[in-house]
Amino acid sequence: MKKKVISMTMAVLMGLSLAACGDNADDSKSGNAGTSQEGNQQEDTKTEGDEGQDSTPQEGDAGSGTSTDVANKDKPLVWFNRQPSNSSTGELDQAALSFNDHTYYVGFDANQGAELQGTMVKDYIEANIDKIDRNGDGVIGYVLAIGDIGHNDSIARTRGIRKALGTGVEKDGDIDSAPVGTNTDGSAKSVKDGEIEVGGKKYVVRELASQEMKNSAGATWDAATAGNAIGTWSSSFGEEIDVIASNNDGMGMSMFNAWSKDNKVPTFGYDANSDAVAAIADGYGGTISQHADVQAYLTLRVLRNALDGVDVDTGIGTADEAGNVLSEDVYVYREEERSYYALNVAVTADNYQDFTDSTKIYEPVSKQLDAGSHATKKVWLNIYNASDNFLSSTYQPLLQNYDDILNLEVDYIGGDGQTESNITNRLGNPGQYDAFAINMVKTDNAASYTALLSQ
Ligand code: BGC
Repeated sequence: MKKKVISMTMAVLMGLSLAACGDNADDSKSGNAGTSQEGNQQEDTKTEGDEGQDSTPQEGDAGSGTSTDVANKDKPLVWFNRQPSNSSTGELDQAALSFNDHTYYVGFDANQGAELQGTMVKDYIEANIDKIDRNGDGVIGYVLAIGDIGHNDSIARTRGIRKALGTGVEKDGDIDSAPVGTNTDGSAKSVKDGEIEVGGKKYVVRELASQEMKNSAGATWDAATAGNAIGTWSSSFGEEIDVIASNNDGMGMSMFNAWSKDNKVPTFGYDANSDAVAAIADGYGGTISQHADVQAYLTLRVLRNALDGVDVDTGIGTADEAGNVLSEDVYVYREEERSYYALNVAVTADNYQDFTDSTKIYEPVSKQLDAGSHATKKVWLNIYNASDNFLSSTYQPLLQNYDDILNLEVDYIGGDGQTESNITNRLGNPGQYDAFAINMVKTDNAASYTALLSQ
């Protein structure tokens, strides 16, 4: 069980993040860098002409201040939350993942988490079988909110639900993850009816409807779209909906608040955002913690280590001099993918009290680094969508706690969730930074960033 000791009120920071939602693509010019809260030095702190030298951070170069003598292409780079990969096939973009010797990805184990989410829903159905089938027709009907059909985490979660409930059909060697639209008659081709047997009685399980929650402007994982969808679905076949599954809590909470809470239909999400965890007391079915507290730490820690010229495992698998270390039960590192993956934990009515504040840092990695041996360095970091529920209410507040501990001065740039150029336009002066942390709009687009760093 996680023990988290440092509690901080992040309401102010969250407010600022949300206030950034309306920023437009030109805000780098106006000096308003989206969610940036640590000073918007967009221009002029670096002299021109220092790119192009091929020097990587060396052992012992900590303490030298901003490393303007390192070429941008050799600076530490971490991709996070959206893994460079082909959005159609899921194939990893190895060129982006090994852009230089100090490049990594930080995310979470999507398959392990997806399986947990599926199992959580199935266990709930079995434990509540006497009351779950609301209209008593012998069919347990569920609807599914899909985040982004081209995002491998979203795909994994859709598959996890279908696998656990027996509704998946195989396509190209894996479970089909395509949305079905409406399937109240069970005729859709991307899913099939499943079956659950409890206490000697058999029930059909049917995916009544599913759709990608993308708004008209193109933003994915869109909570408002999910709220509208449950309105439409419930008004035409509400009596048949016994369970709601969602690829994340943002969409899940929107459906919970719009319909499922009042109708006592359990909704299951993903992310363990604080509002979703609190809603478990009011009937939200459960969620999955993707250990954002570990991911946010890893995101900044791999940069810190490269900047310090120390082994990348420092403060991760091997304790640093302050005593920060992660145990093997909270993350895995896959060398061939240059990727760190946090492990997931199910959060249900049984244990939600331990997860009420999703912005609390993880105690085993909460110790301040000494400013003498780990001098302040500047990091450019973007969030693909400043109004993404998980990233703005959970991940970014965690990053903002860890950046102090790791002596990193981070400029947080919030995107609009739709256009990569909205973000890349604000990476106009990479020479001003020591390291980069990137959260792409689309997982195919890594080259838009690496091209800027290679110039
Ligand atoms: C989260 C989603 C979020 C997405 C953004 C996922 O890992 O679960 O809530 O919208 O990341 O990329």
